[in-house]
Amino acid sequence: CGIVGIVGWQPVSERLVDALKRLEYRGYDSAGVATITDGALHRRRSEGKLINLETRLKEEPLSGTIGIAHTRWATHGAPTEGNAHPHFTDGVAVVHNGIIENFAELKNELGVGAEFQTETDTEVVAHLLARHRREGMGRGEAVHTMLKRVRGAYALAILFEDDPSTIMAARNGPPLAIGHGNGEMFLGSDAIALAPFTNEITYLMDGDWAIVGRTGAQIFDFDGRPVERARQTSKASASLATKGSHRHFMEKEIHEQPEVIAHALAHYIDFADNRADTVAGLDFARIPSLAISACGTAYFAGLIGKYWFERYARLPVEIDVASEFRYRDIPLSPQSAALFISQSGETADTLASLRYCKELGLKIGAVVNVGDSTIAREADAVFPILAGSEIGVASTKAFTCQLAVLASLAIGAAKARGTVSEDEGQALVRNLAEMPRIMGHVLNSIQSKIELLARDLSKCDHVLYLGRGTSFPLAMEGALKLKEISYIHAEGYAAGELKHGPIALIDQNMPVIVIAPHDRFFYKTLSNMEEVAARGGRIILITDEKGAAASNRDTMHTIVLPAVDEIIAPMIFSLPIQLLAYHTAILMGTDVDQPRNLAKSVTVE
Ligand code: G6P
Repeated sequence: CGIVGIVGWQPVSERLVDALKRLEYRGYDSAGVATITDGALHRRRSEGKLINLETRLKEEPLSGTIGIAHTRWATHGAPTEGNAHPHFTDGVAVVHNGIIENFAELKNELGVGAEFQTETDTEVVAHLLARHRREGMGRGEAVHTMLKRVRGAYALAILFEDDPSTIMAARNGPPLAIGHGNGEMFLGSDAIALAPFTNEITYLMDGDWAIVGRTGAQIFDFDGRPVERARQTSKASASLATKGSHRHFMEKEIHEQPEVIAHALAHYIDFADNRADTVAGLDFARIPSLAISACGTAYFAGLIGKYWFERYARLPVEIDVASEFRYRDIPLSPQSAALFISQSGETADTLASLRYCKELGLKIGAVVNVGDSTIAREADAVFPILAGSEIGVASTKAFTCQLAVLASLAIGAAKARGTVSEDEGQALVRNLAEMPRIMGHVLNSIQSKIELLARDLSKCDHVLYLGRGTSFPLAMEGALKLKEISYIHAEGYAAGELKHGPIALIDQNMPVIVIAPHDRFFYKTLSNMEEVAARGGRIILITDEKGAAASNRDTMHTIVLPAVDEIIAPMIFSLPIQLLAYHTAILMGTDVDQPRNLAKSVTVE
């Protein structure tokens, strides 16, 4: 969820909604805004996307020079207008990002006398505050006492009806930034939300709470002692990305890949010398192992990275999805380093894993797209992927840029560890340098074939993706992409695992997409493809020119890409996979850029 607040002297409601647009990546199930006018709290809320809230505000405008607002990704309670924030109780308004874990217990305790209007965990915060005020506490004391009672993760913004010049804020877990303006003060989940208003930012620390007035903020720690927190200048840009001539952001982002990858590579590679060891940050020569953790698409990028770090740099890699990594009690050496991959840099599970490794004493690297993000700020070394803003919920250019950065780091690590020769290192770098040109060519040449294939795929209920080596994580990414935006059920499997279960599903109704560049594993994958054919399965083969020549199997479709070196194959083979999901989604008529139930980055654990 995303939070904003403004306390100032000009009307706030339109500006609050503008700031929410920048936080829509955190959820778009419902949204709401509350202000104080004529001594009373007022709110407008809407189910669904922000556009609905905007329409609502046009019909029923909201005046006021102080306000808080929220865009929601539902955890407790359906994404209805009734469950949308801000929550109101007896002169208190609350917006919340996070989860109040002991909400059921608190709800019980509040019992009779507290009438709950919603199914959310957040509403107990409003009720606790209202109760403390009835008990005679001042506003600050009420907030402080409430914070001692709630357990879990929160960023909170609170309005009290009897104080139209102050927003109260609190943070434990999800980030919250205070923005300093000119006679106005701001609150936001990230600096990007506040960029149109100010670049002067103070981040609250965990356990902090604050009283934010028009001209400044007082910050207190969990024990109620006043604390100073540094003011910093954020680099977040006030401009918003546009679709240009494309139908969707996703389409635009797919087509931007040659350009942004070239940009990213230029940051990591010295093309004059064909060297990839120009990046400082983590001491790859000395670490005994590397831990990688991430979520969703970023996790699949990490899995491909594991293959590279192990193969080229002989560096053992421990990798898991962040939500598991954090709780597995992995025996990690403090001499090791950990890499966290996140487009947004705000994903709660990934952030929790990062903090866990930091506590264990590991050196922390962050592969991120958003430079000002929490994950970037908390890392020892930041490896930007330089993809530019990615708006489509299904990650495309961020994925291939993550791969380009991981490949560069792996080659750099291999050089540092002496596990590849100068010549081998240079050859790998030359291959990376070729990538933008080849990507451009592929994007121009496969479009019509993919559209035909999407027509068949859009009639299916289930799809299986198979791959070996780095094509295995790519198979999982392909399946994820398809299910995210077309809502067709898809699974990605290691080609060799097919015979251990999924083969039972093969029939004429389930197409099997085989990702098979002509690499070391090609003939093994080909055998697995034969196993599908022998059982009447329909095959879609994504291969390269050499692979197409070597396979004489009849397929439902074959997509042929240029033959490329193994190190760049995952990036090149990502393109048909992304386009296939995109065109299938269009035929299914889904909301491609903001598919149902998802958020671009999930900020609760
Ligand atoms: C969400 C998105 C995925 C994304 C994942 C991780 O689940 O829907 O597309 O890969 O979060 O996001 P991050 O910003 O950490 O890369």
